[in-house]
Amino acid sequence: MESRSLNAVLVPLASLILLLGLTRAQLSVDYYSKTCPHVEEIVRKEMIQILSVAPSLAGPFLRLHFHDCFVRGCDGSVLLDSTSGTKAEKDAKPNLTLRGFGSVERVKAKLEKACPNTVSCADVLALMARDAVWLSKGPTWPVWLGRKDGRISLANETKQLPPPKANLTQLIQMFSVKGLDLKDLVVLSGGHTIGTAHCSSISDRLYNFTGLDNLSDVDPFLDMKYISKLRSKCSPTDTKTLIEMDPGSFKTFDNSYYKLVAKRRSAFHSDWALLTNSFTRDYVLKHANGFESEFFQDFADSMIKMGNVGVLTGSQGEIRKTCSVVNY
Ligand code: HEM
Repeated sequence: MESRSLNAVLVPLASLILLLGLTRAQLSVDYYSKTCPHVEEIVRKEMIQILSVAPSLAGPFLRLHFHDCFVRGCDGSVLLDSTSGTKAEKDAKPNLTLRGFGSVERVKAKLEKACPNTVSCADVLALMARDAVWLSKGPTWPVWLGRKDGRISLANETKQLPPPKANLTQLIQMFSVKGLDLKDLVVLSGGHTIGTAHCSSISDRLYNFTGLDNLSDVDPFLDMKYISKLRSKCSPTDTKTLIEMDPGSFKTFDNSYYKLVAKRRSAFHSDWALLTNSFTRDYVLKHANGFESEFFQDFADSMIKMGNVGVLTGSQGEIRKTCSVVNY
C-alpha cells in the first residue's frame, strides 16, 4: 500500500518533469482549467461507478484509446458510427471486439451537462484510459488535453492496427510510423496485463497452425502446457468465449505480463515476438523479475506519447456533442 501511494506521487511528477522539456502540439495539462475546471473529477467519478459495476471494462477502455490513436491519430474516430455511405472504423474486423462505447457516451453526457460543447470525445477517451489503468492498481499520469474530434472514420484505415499475428519487424514498422519507438512497443504491450481476448483471436495458435491439421500442429513458440489449458477453453470454431490475457490477475495492472511472455504463455504471437529482439527481450526478462515501479513510470511516459499521436488541435476538427456521430 505504501509503495503504491509513493508511486502515485512519483509517477506523475516524473512524467511532468520529462514533459516540461518537450513541445506538445498545443495540448496542455490545464487546457480546460477555465472552461471545464472539474473535467477530471467528473470523469474519475463516473469511472469509479462504471468499474465498480463492470470491472472487466478497464481493459476495453485502455484498448479503445490505443485503437483511436493508431488510426487518424487520437481524434475519437474509433467512436463514430457507420453512415449509409461509409463503413466506419468500429465496424472493421480488428474493432469488432472493442467494448465500452456505451460508457464513453455516459461519461461524455455528464461532461456535456457540466460544460456543454467543451470537452472532446478524444480527450474523454484519453482520460478514461488513464483512469482505467489507475483504478486497476496501475500507474497514473498527467493527461495532456485539448484534442479535437475528427469527422472522418474509415473501416479500411484500420489496417494500421497491428494484428495479433504480427512479427517484430511488422510491429516496429507499425509503431514507428506513429512516432513510437522500440521501447514504446515493449512498454505499451504491457497493457496486456489487463483484459481478456476472444478465443478467435488466439485459436490459430492452438489448431492447424501451419495447415497440417493434426493435434500437434500448434504454434511452436507457445508453451505446451499452456496450449492444453487454452484448448480446454477454446474449441477451434469458438468465437464467443473470453480468456484472461493475464490469468489470475487480469483485473490488476502489474508486471506479470512480462512473466507470461518470458514463459511463452502470452496470448498473441505479437507478444511472443518481443523475445526475438535483444532490446525488447532484455526489457521483458528484466521486468519478469521485478522492477514494477520502473515499468509503471515507462508505461506512463509511453501513454502520454501515444496520446499525442496525430492529434487535431486549435481550429482543426470539432467538439462532438455525441461521440458516435459528427455534429451537423
Ligand atoms: C503491439 C501490438 C498489439 C497487438 C497485436 C494487440 C492485439 C490485441 C488483440 C488481438 C486483443 C484481443 C481482442 C479480443 O479478442 O477481444 C487485444 C486486447 C487488448 N489489448 Fe492489445 N494489442 C497490441 C497492443 C496494445 C496496446 C499498445 C495496448 C494499450 C496500451 C493494448 C491493450 C489491450 C487491452 C487492454 C486488451 C484487452 C481488451 C479487453 O479486455 O477487451 N494492446 N490486443
